[in-house]
Amino acid sequence: MSVDSNRLDTLLKENRRFAPPEAFRAQANFNDPGIYERAAADPEAYWAEQAGNLSWFTPWDKVLEWNPPHAKWFVGGKLNAAYNAVDRHRQGPRKNKAAIIWEGEPGDSKVYTYDMLGREVDKAAHMLKSLGVKKGDRVTVYLPMIPELPITLLACAKIGAIHSVVFGGFAANSLRDRILDADSRILITADAGWRRGSLVPLKKNADEAVEGTSVDTIVVVPRVGEKAGVQLVEGRDHDWNALMAQQPATPFEAEPMDAEDILFLLYTSGTTGKPKGIVHTTGGYLVGANTSLRSVFDIKDEDVYFCTADIGWVTGHTYIVYGPLSAGATVVMYEGAPDFPDRDRFWDIVEKYGVTIFYTAPTSIRTFMKWGPQYVEKHNLSTLRLLGTVGEPINPEAWMWFHVHVGKEQCPIVDTWWQTETGCAMIAPLPGITETKPGSATRPVPGILVDVVDEQGNSVEPGNGGYLVIKKPWPSMLRTVWGDDERFRNTYFGKFEGIYLPGDGAHLDEDNYIWILGRIDDVINVSGHRIGTMEVESALVAHPSVAEAAVIGRSHDVKGQAITAFVTVKEGIEANDALVAELKQHVATAIGAMARPEEIIFTAELPKTRSAKIMRRLLRDIAEGRVLGDTTTLADPSVVEQLKTLYKD
Ligand code: WTA
Repeated sequence: MSVDSNRLDTLLKENRRFAPPEAFRAQANFNDPGIYERAAADPEAYWAEQAGNLSWFTPWDKVLEWNPPHAKWFVGGKLNAAYNAVDRHRQGPRKNKAAIIWEGEPGDSKVYTYDMLGREVDKAAHMLKSLGVKKGDRVTVYLPMIPELPITLLACAKIGAIHSVVFGGFAANSLRDRILDADSRILITADAGWRRGSLVPLKKNADEAVEGTSVDTIVVVPRVGEKAGVQLVEGRDHDWNALMAQQPATPFEAEPMDAEDILFLLYTSGTTGKPKGIVHTTGGYLVGANTSLRSVFDIKDEDVYFCTADIGWVTGHTYIVYGPLSAGATVVMYEGAPDFPDRDRFWDIVEKYGVTIFYTAPTSIRTFMKWGPQYVEKHNLSTLRLLGTVGEPINPEAWMWFHVHVGKEQCPIVDTWWQTETGCAMIAPLPGITETKPGSATRPVPGILVDVVDEQGNSVEPGNGGYLVIKKPWPSMLRTVWGDDERFRNTYFGKFEGIYLPGDGAHLDEDNYIWILGRIDDVINVSGHRIGTMEVESALVAHPSVAEAAVIGRSHDVKGQAITAFVTVKEGIEANDALVAELKQHVATAIGAMARPEEIIFTAELPKTRSAKIMRRLLRDIAEGRVLGDTTTLADPSVVEQLKTLYKD
């Protein structure tokens, strides 16, 4: 197993501690340290108690049925996720409370109260139904961060249709792969989106993507209008506003869903070129999301909660849509870039709406650090009371910057470790209980049994590293990989029987705190985005000039990791700067801008083992300028010498 040794060195030197401020502790939803032990003694009882915070149409008969690796939670229970996220709040004092405060990148904004949101969701559900969408159908959603995005998800949930959101930064090919895998016949998109003042051509990508798929219906939200210059195809494409205007104003009856009915698919990268459709079900997922908002995020009715993620990723699903709304919170949703029109946009939003809880990614914090504290200092951030990070390991320096410049040394920070597959935060402090250490996600949340184990699956002693594992099932765990249960078994339960393997390396310190070291597989984490090396390699070799490609992630001070591609060209092709630019663009066009390689290095040969396996580890050592380890398994050791001279950092 290879882990980031630089990170380990820094971590072992970190000895700062931050206890929860007394005032925070006193008011926290979770402030009894005994909760950890009680939950550990009987996790099923703990989760059943948490599930009581949702509204169930029919109570469950059995909390857990565990036939490893398949779990069923709240067996026999019936509920509806949209009912829980919206309708139940319309009936009480939250009826006219702001559910979503949305701000567009150009500066336009909208506020939806729970009641208004409910009416929109009902109309959208009527609309989907009128288009023939039924329970269990897959609806692919390719939208920018506009209110129609959560409205669409909630409308699907209300009907019992399965949503599959594809991040708006993905290119046409990636969208097509996901449509084909999910076998959707309906796509919800927008004419275009705004990003840093430019247009993201969503409809154009969608037109390209649906070719050769079974999509026969596209609904287009006119986000940009005329400027987008899109055409609707007669008989296939519909204008969102026109359809919505035709719908009855009557309530849409929420479909009573089985706790184990699928709520959504969300594709994520793995070690092969093909993304995995992670399957989440209704009851368990919602219990996880809702609990997390109350425990890790200490949500209160007075809070204004701002998560900067995109709903195209799991963080947005759980921490913009299902978590906060099921808890009846006020959510701030922002459409665009953090530096548009200027680098203080987030702080402007925090001040304007009085944000109390702010959740972002380490890569953003490192960017803010680079820009300098003056952008933060321009604004009054005194409403903030809790900060959070997610997506990648946070370096202690970035943690401290966040603590000092944004939190003014008053706000606890919750560093939340989790994955698309886990549904909600698994390792994170409880801000009213847990003492934090900059750079550590601290300890598992109540009801979650995490361990660090060696190659044989034995727990390591404190002070050692190993594989991070989760030893017991939990409600919001993925149930399978869509259409590929074999892959689900192999990827997550293939190494240690009945034990979930997330694919991260971790270090356990003397206080049993967990320090995540990064991925142990061929997945690169670029600015918190998971990208499979194979996906980028496949894109590169699809270019007519490329013979072979090997892709690695090397450390990068802002992005966490950056993509370096080693490429051999075909006979007679000139490897020059123009080709570098062309290949970078080629990858961005094939997958999406976030997969664009930071650098491309041409080489006559790639280092391979005698069994012809590309030695990625070695390439990473070369790219990061480390002393090379044992290269005796190389088929041709001279390749390395040649690569070292080629590589210019
Ligand atoms: C990484 C995002 C360290 C990790 C929610 C994981 C983290 C992958 C953290 C999942 C964290 C996420 N500290 N590493 N707090 N949070 N990761 O599926 O490698 O997009 O396996 O889910 O991100 O990425 P995903």
